[in-house]
Amino acid sequence: MRKNTPQGKKGDWAVRNRKQLRSVFVQLNNSICNMLSLQWQLMEIIQLWHLSLQSYSLIDFLIFSGVFILFSSFVLHTSVQIANFLRHEKLKSTLFRCFRTMPFVAFFISKEKQKMLSQLRKDISSSRSCILKKNEELPKTGWPVARVLKEATALKEKDTVISVATNKMSGTVYIADSDHFEMCNIVYSQFAHANPLHSEAFPSVCRMEAEIVSMTAKLLGGGSPDKKNVCGAITSGGTESILTAIRVTRDYMQKRKKISFPEMIIAISAHAAVYKAAEYFKIQLIRVGVDKEGRMRVDEVKKKINKNTILIYTSAPSYPHGAIDPIAALSEIALAYDCCLHVDACLGGFVLPFLKAEISTIIFDFELAGVTSMSVDTHKYGCAQKGSSVVLYSSRELRKFQYTSVMDWTGGLYISPSQPGSRSGGLISQTWAALVHMGIDGYTTVAKEIYAAAVMLRTEINSIPGLQVIGEDINMIVAWKSNMNKINIYIVNDILQSKGWQLSVLQAPPALHLCITAANVSCVPRLVADLRLSVYEVLSLPEGIKGGKAPIYGMAGSVPDRGVVGDLLKDIQDILLSTY
Ligand SMILES: Cc1ncc(COP(=O)(O)O)c(C=O)c1O
Repeated sequence: MRKNTPQGKKGDWAVRNRKQLRSVFVQLNNSICNMLSLQWQLMEIIQLWHLSLQSYSLIDFLIFSGVFILFSSFVLHTSVQIANFLRHEKLKSTLFRCFRTMPFVAFFISKEKQKMLSQLRKDISSSRSCILKKNEELPKTGWPVARVLKEATALKEKDTVISVATNKMSGTVYIADSDHFEMCNIVYSQFAHANPLHSEAFPSVCRMEAEIVSMTAKLLGGGSPDKKNVCGAITSGGTESILTAIRVTRDYMQKRKKISFPEMIIAISAHAAVYKAAEYFKIQLIRVGVDKEGRMRVDEVKKKINKNTILIYTSAPSYPHGAIDPIAALSEIALAYDCCLHVDACLGGFVLPFLKAEISTIIFDFELAGVTSMSVDTHKYGCAQKGSSVVLYSSRELRKFQYTSVMDWTGGLYISPSQPGSRSGGLISQTWAALVHMGIDGYTTVAKEIYAAAVMLRTEINSIPGLQVIGEDINMIVAWKSNMNKINIYIVNDILQSKGWQLSVLQAPPALHLCITAANVSCVPRLVADLRLSVYEVLSLPEGIKGGKAPIYGMAGSVPDRGVVGDLLKDIQDILLSTY
């Protein structure tokens, strides 16, 4: 008999997957048996036909059919056995992909998917519905200003209202001070028309951009005299900074080392933006695991690095568990193999430098010789409004690969630093305003407040029987999982959601996290109280609450053929982009 192991451990994961696989195979078995009996009847007809032709004897057909049935049963039985002991992800997903091509499996999946999507369409439609008429095409006559303002205000009605005193949302909103918020909006409106593409007309925003990059670079190891070449540019957000740094690295390595089949080593915890970059820029992703603290495994990187590696991608910290990868060790590897190293500091860039006293041993920036690029989000802990981030490079030579110059265009000589052409001067100016308004003191105060709340939240969660914090790095992300079979963390989330919490839902292992910001830090004690209650409720209501999303999260996380989940996500995106 297999012993029950705590949830989240490899043994338990395997048991759950095996159970699921077994039930799928049992269903499959039944369907194939039905098919076989149908086939048996068909054979009888064919056999009669053949008899009439006198080509084969009845005995021939009986033997053939018997062998066929035995063989099919053997294949099925073996598949079930393999599935029972399966631990190989690729093999599992390949098997499921094969099954997905079977007509009856495809039919079943499509039917279930349509059911789910039609429910989603209904939910989205009701979440967007209001008394206003939908605008699916341009109005013939433009609306007066008063009407535009009235309708825009009405549309906002269903949005989550963020108030610092009651904010129960993970991350998302980073500004707590209403004066700061308004200041950014005012400065934005003063420069909303400005465009750094026209540098002669708008020197103001060009100067602000250069200053933002310089302030950010100095914060992240670009301050010392031997690092004076650290430079960068502004982008629209973390994803664009990451995409830009990866594209630049690919082109730089192509030119310098003639790498034509580029590979990039990432941890399984790296942000989803790297998958986008790999897809857009045709780079092979090499995924490595994380250790029990959620940090990238150096030994696996050493094994996977090769002559096609252009980049080791690290996080400080990672989105799922707030783990800070061992960047110093990885920087040494990057230097030894002469490849680039990116640090995704989208979350940590404006927090970690202000926690030197608390986490003094962690060096994660351009102080390390192997770090060649960084992404740092000013629209997160930089406290600017949405639409701004900074991408940094260790040298001007690298940054040049970001630029596009067009010399022979009939539209004139053209130079642009990044993917967009025109950019919003408003976004640049409000970012500049946020940085100079916060200053070192302002950022230090916020970082220390977040750190203290994270310490408290981690201690409290670990004291709740059945819950366990993931990782040991202390920063803005606190992630936790269940370590008791009876506690389904997704049901805990459903209950927390019914109490107004909007936490981040993680998978592999199933877990939740709170990203602590200045705008939700005061609600952390309330989360502890609600978590205790939710765990208590799960123990008394193990099947979950009505209308909860736990079954969907559970299913989405455990379907071995990720293609099914990927297709479903694309269908959901279609719905979100429609005028429901
Ligand atoms: C570590 C990390 N990197 C990158 C991103 C992507 O940032 P954005 O959503 O601004 O594109 C995020 C967003 O949460 C993040 O947490």
